[in-house]
Amino acid sequence: MLAQNIHVVAERLPIARWILRVLRDERTSVGEFRRAMTLAGVLLAIESSRELSWKPATVRTPLGVETVELELERKPLLIGILGASLHMLEGFQQVYPDAPIALIAAKRRETSRGVEVDMYYERLPGEWSGPAIVVDPMLATGTTVGLAISKAKRMGSSKIIVASVIASTQGLRYIVENHQDVAVYTLAVDPELNNRYFIVPGLGDAGDRALGVTA
Ligand code: URA
Repeated sequence: MLAQNIHVVAERLPIARWILRVLRDERTSVGEFRRAMTLAGVLLAIESSRELSWKPATVRTPLGVETVELELERKPLLIGILGASLHMLEGFQQVYPDAPIALIAAKRRETSRGVEVDMYYERLPGEWSGPAIVVDPMLATGTTVGLAISKAKRMGSSKIIVASVIASTQGLRYIVENHQDVAVYTLAVDPELNNRYFIVPGLGDAGDRALGVTA
């Protein structure tokens, strides 16, 4: 059974399985892949919105009647991992157009000990006391996402959410063991990592497929 802070969207929403079908298929074109990643971002932004704080907002309708709906207490800081998360970030921006965006660029290095991550660029606010959403399509070993979570904690984020398209069981275990206070929203959970730490069955290299180049 999954921990309470892990939410698997495809278990409840068939459209998530349809997005996964497009993303996992090796024949999917770059354009279709980008479109599906953007949609995944929209869906994960909506699904994870229950973690944010909302306050009542009174509006007057064209009928001249006031009614109460909700608005965000604080905009979330979106933390994107370059370049695989670009299109998911676009989806999050469609839901939260005014949300600030922080970026981290990291390169995976496969070593005999596992995957190590070299950060080679970051653009983060010095302090951020509001909620933060780490947007990374592939939660494989958890190393990159773990680094982003640690940075968000150091900035003072009140609440941290991770949004991924596919998480491995190993990556989820890492989050549950090291960051129990973090909520994870993922479309799917895949059982394995291969000897290069790619998620299996997965969708391949999310960065290469989204950018249309092999690095
Ligand atoms: N990053 C990817 O792009 N794909 C994986 O399967 C794992 C990490």
